[in-house]
Amino acid sequence: MNTNRKIIVTENFVKDKMKDYDSGHDWWHIERVRKIAHYINSEEKIADTFILEIACLLHDTADSKFANGKMELGYSEISDFLDKSGMSEIRDHIIEIISNVSFSKINKTGNLTDPVLLVLQDADKLDAIGAIGIARAFNYGGFRNNPIYIPGENTEGNSKSTIGHFYDKLLKLKDMMNTKTGLSIAFERHQVLLNFLDQFYSEWKFGMKGV
Ligand code: ADP
Ligand code: NI
Repeated sequence: MNTNRKIIVTENFVKDKMKDYDSGHDWWHIERVRKIAHYINSEEKIADTFILEIACLLHDTADSKFANGKMELGYSEISDFLDKSGMSEIRDHIIEIISNVSFSKINKTGNLTDPVLLVLQDADKLDAIGAIGIARAFNYGGFRNNPIYIPGENTEGNSKSTIGHFYDKLLKLKDMMNTKTGLSIAFERHQVLLNFLDQFYSEWKFGMKGV
């Protein structure tokens, strides 16, 4: 199988796996992450582009939120797929990368020096901030039937509201970037979050001086 063919069969595998995911984690999330990742890598020139492409495509395929907590099963399906599609030589590397992308979410430490992982993590985080990040957050909140905002909520951990999630996670992502290029995009998208919050509070307080 040539390289282009390997990419196409991986796209098809991912599209099929993700068809039942929520719309914040759909194929378009994968498409955006891979575009951002290749942009970052075109500036940084640190990662192998083929491995980066395959890692971006597969990075959310074993997500426990959508595999009923069966992450291990997700990894073994991905391993089988890579073996079957002539990618055995990159199988272990890909599994290590995508398991670290996931582990980082639950604050476990992994191999954070792998250039493919550094670029992929930045791209995945960038898709959670800016205008698209805001859209995804409210989409996720709606999916869970969470309130959009709870005035006075303690936003230092597990907020129930989507505005709370901005403080729990989204506003922290800028300072977690691995690459300089990722950081410069994050600055712009972080500002979009701040502008949104300003406008949100101003509309919320409409007509209520000092509230
Ligand atoms: P990733 O894209 O790295 O897999 P997550 O699975 O944690 O990230 O989240 C997917 C999307 O859903 C992100 O845009 C994230 O901000 C959003 N999200 C996750 N948890 C919440 C929450 N409690 N409230 C609102 N949005 C959320
Ligand atoms: Ni993702």
